[in-house]
Amino acid sequence: MDGTRRTTKLAIVGAGAVGSTLAYAALARGAARSVALMDVNRAKVEAEVLDLRHGGMFIPQAEIDGSDDVEVCRGADVVAVTAGAKQKPGQSRLDLAEATVALTRKILPSLLEVAPDAIYLMVTNPVDVVTYAAQEISGLPPGRVFGSGTVLDSSRLRDALARHCGVAVGNVHANIAGEHGDSEIVLWSSATIAGVPLLDWRPFRGLPPLDEPARRRIATDVVDSAYRVIAGKGATNYAVGLAATRIIEAVLNDEHRVMNVSSRLDGFHGISDVCLSVPSLVDRRGVAETIDTPLSDDEVAGLRASAEGMRAVQRRLGL
Ligand code: LAC
Repeated sequence: MDGTRRTTKLAIVGAGAVGSTLAYAALARGAARSVALMDVNRAKVEAEVLDLRHGGMFIPQAEIDGSDDVEVCRGADVVAVTAGAKQKPGQSRLDLAEATVALTRKILPSLLEVAPDAIYLMVTNPVDVVTYAAQEISGLPPGRVFGSGTVLDSSRLRDALARHCGVAVGNVHANIAGEHGDSEIVLWSSATIAGVPLLDWRPFRGLPPLDEPARRRIATDVVDSAYRVIAGKGATNYAVGLAATRIIEAVLNDEHRVMNVSSRLDGFHGISDVCLSVPSLVDRRGVAETIDTPLSDDEVAGLRASAEGMRAVQRRLGL
């Protein structure tokens, strides 16, 4: 992409709950001028495309295509990969690793053939291991293959904190780092609410304090969020579709936006050769930089534990 405004194309691999919701969110927000959906289930992908096209009058002008043939992804600027097994109730994301890494190994070569210059955004779970595998398999520079990571978890955290403190979500700047999964950690030390360091926050009259027990409960609720949604409706899709759309916008609009996406770390607090989410600069290059963020000793320890967990799965899968 040369940075001048031209037809931008988003290709989405997988037309399941996440992929079709991502297509819907990207179209509704006018994130890309052309959206292509690909899925091996031809009837499904054609029906999703029809249903999306039928809303054409209500969204910014866009070309909407779909097929079971990878050709439909040709020339994409961003390829978002959502295809893969979905978590069953109570199943952890890491339980999906073998199947989704095998699928990634299968589909990447043909995608790279039709979209060699794209930025690859992995959404499929376990997204950190899948991102690492995709970067290894593709051989692309690490910044050009990254994962949606804990952008979604950070949104869940900000929602919970905003409700607890009685402020708008936009006033909460708090991030989750590490695995998009059970070992993720809250970066309490750098969090702020309306510019006030979160750890110094004083509750409004009649609202509960944001003390250690409250913070612990909120952190646990964030980690458990997906399990609760999956138990109730079988899958999560709206929030992850919106999170992925926001990341894609940062790439296509060259926003230089700091987001907690998952990429292959190279010495972040001494952590390398594993994909985890840390504050990162996202623009048309993909992940251009990771931000050298001061962390508390507990946060460094939590991040290292997350890294160890990912490495153990990478070793088990021979990555
Ligand atoms: C979730 C899935 C996308 O956290 O991992 O909703």
